[in-house]
Amino acid sequence: MPNAQKPAAIVTGAGSGIGRAIARRFAAEGYRVVIVDRDEALARRTEELVGSDGGLASIAVTDITDEAAVGALVEGVDGLEVLVNNAGIFSVVPFDELKADDFRRAYEVNLVAMFTLSQKAARRMPNGGRIVNLCSRAAFGSRHYAHYVASKAAVAGFTKALALELAERDISVNAVAPGVIETDMLLARSDTNLDALRAQQPTGRLGRPEDIAHAAAFLASPQAGFITGQVLIVDGGRSIGGTAAF
Ligand SMILES: NC(=O)c1ccc[n+]([C@@H]2O[C@H](COP(=O)([O-])OP(=O)(O)OC[C@H]3O[C@@H](n4cnc5c(N)ncnc54)[C@H](O)[C@@H]3O)[C@@H](O)[C@H]2O)c1
Repeated sequence: MPNAQKPAAIVTGAGSGIGRAIARRFAAEGYRVVIVDRDEALARRTEELVGSDGGLASIAVTDITDEAAVGALVEGVDGLEVLVNNAGIFSVVPFDELKADDFRRAYEVNLVAMFTLSQKAARRMPNGGRIVNLCSRAAFGSRHYAHYVASKAAVAGFTKALALELAERDISVNAVAPGVIETDMLLARSDTNLDALRAQQPTGRLGRPEDIAHAAAFLASPQAGFITGQVLIVDGGRSIGGTAAF
């Protein structure tokens, strides 16, 4: 397919972990992927990987909390059909040590930037476009990061509200809620005991970024057009019988 005809997909936080896997998967699906990340070196590495896979990508080094920069970014993308709001921040802070600023920062990146991007992108998408948001199984409750849990619960609510408003344009809005996925976000945690986490998994393994990329690709596919406003938990069965996280 000539490059000019390829539809575009914006993937935020595509410099790392889950976002990188989503970028590679969407490029393999035939999208021109716009790799959005605030970290240029990480974004360039993803661009190289997409190129070595035979896909097409460009990078946009952008902090998604910068509304003006996000506006310019979206305006510059022709043929936009898919937005994957993947970028997110996470930190472990027990309740007694939490500060209001921890909440503000988590909301600013995990939720408000998602809103800004979604609004600007939806205005440029044709009918039938797709928005996929990264939620988390933690949205259903978890210890030691109430700010993150609350921001991801808000992502679930935002996804449902936006799905209703965009349904008349046949733009679906869904979320993927990963369980424990082996990425830098997890490995950076000081309290991470990978063997203990694996032992809690019915499947005996933790998730891989590609597991989430598959789910995002399905939700963005034409075949998923009748699915909207849903939060798909992808956690290897960990939440069966209860959604309490580790
Ligand atoms: N890893 C997990 O176990 C897990 C579980 C549930 C949900 N999630 C969610 O999946 C998403 C991706 O997680 P990950 O584990 O791949 O994270 P990660 O930390 O490996 O990657 C996040 C990427 O987002 C970028 N980013 C962060 N803030 C940004 C900003 N303001 N502007 C632009 N880019 C920014 C970072 O530079 C990084 O490249 C997040 O929304 C996260 O909350 C992850």
